[in-house]
Amino acid sequence: MTSGSRRFDALLASLQIPVMAAPMFLVSGTEMVTAAARSGVVGTFPAANARTIDDLSAMIAGITEGVDGGAWGVNLIVHRTYDRLDTELALLREAAPDLVITALGTPQRALEAVHGWGGLIFADINTPEQARRAIAAGADGLAAVCSGAGGHTGRYSPFALIAAIREFWDGPLIAGGAVSSGAGILAMRVLGADLVTVGTRLLATAESRAADGHRRMVIDATIADITTSDSVTGVPANWLTESLHRHRPAGGPTGIDFSGVVADSKAWRDVWSAGEGVGAVRATESVAEVVSALAAEYDAALASIAR
Ligand SMILES: Cc1cc2nc3c(=O)[nH]c(=O)nc-3n(C[C@H](O)[C@H](O)[C@H](O)COP(=O)(O)O)c2cc1C
Repeated sequence: MTSGSRRFDALLASLQIPVMAAPMFLVSGTEMVTAAARSGVVGTFPAANARTIDDLSAMIAGITEGVDGGAWGVNLIVHRTYDRLDTELALLREAAPDLVITALGTPQRALEAVHGWGGLIFADINTPEQARRAIAAGADGLAAVCSGAGGHTGRYSPFALIAAIREFWDGPLIAGGAVSSGAGILAMRVLGADLVTVGTRLLATAESRAADGHRRMVIDATIADITTSDSVTGVPANWLTESLHRHRPAGGPTGIDFSGVVADSKAWRDVWSAGEGVGAVRATESVAEVVSALAAEYDAALASIAR
């Protein structure tokens, strides 16, 4: 067992349930990260949610003060066109988040810095091929995005994707996509994931930064209200159909360029995303209430299959 696996096991043992509150663009910030970590799940946010580097510095200070020893992580864009990465890493060094989840590229760009502060680096992947490349690049673990996920979605069912990954990787594995219930969390564990990403279920919480209209649409929506489309960002993502129709960008996406992806991105502000698990969100609750409901459902699901 590697030292990364041992540290990941210690992190898992500290949690109330094996859940990572997903990093969500324009949605998860200081409030959601601290509430999640204090409730006994991993809190995360995308660094790109900070409009400026000063904002990021303030968010990191608020999080380190607020998590109260709980686990937290940050999602970093490592695409070669994203020019703020090195500054973000330098700021994070002192705060030393437990996890870094890299998005949209090889984790290599962040490896040395994250390992330098004793953090674990997980590469966001959609396919076994991307998983193999991330491991070869030195990632400590994988964060698999399966079908039905909010945001940029994977296309493969967790049944097939996790099985394919487990053929060649027995190290730390995070997986998510449409998991909005305790039974879903347990199912992902049974399939072979160690930690389960939950995003959509938290979109309408009191600590979410989602716009009021987004929050209302999430509460009203069911699985039938989700459309997968690459027309907004050039990559397949799940959108609330009503907001997609209202704001479908004329001419479509112009190509993948993350140099300007910070919190003022118009696409995500106008077109609202949610995953296929959206039907489980029926009201605004606190993150602590959602975690405690998921924990109760998880225990009930465990008891039901133990019979
Ligand atoms: C509104 C929204 C924004 C998201 N933004 C990001 C992001 O900035 N970076 C990222 O890696 N994933 C992002 N995601 C994906 C989540 O991290 C996670 O993979 C997904 O929410 C899991 O599926 P679920 O929503 O069905 O639980 C986003 C998801 C949503 C719903």
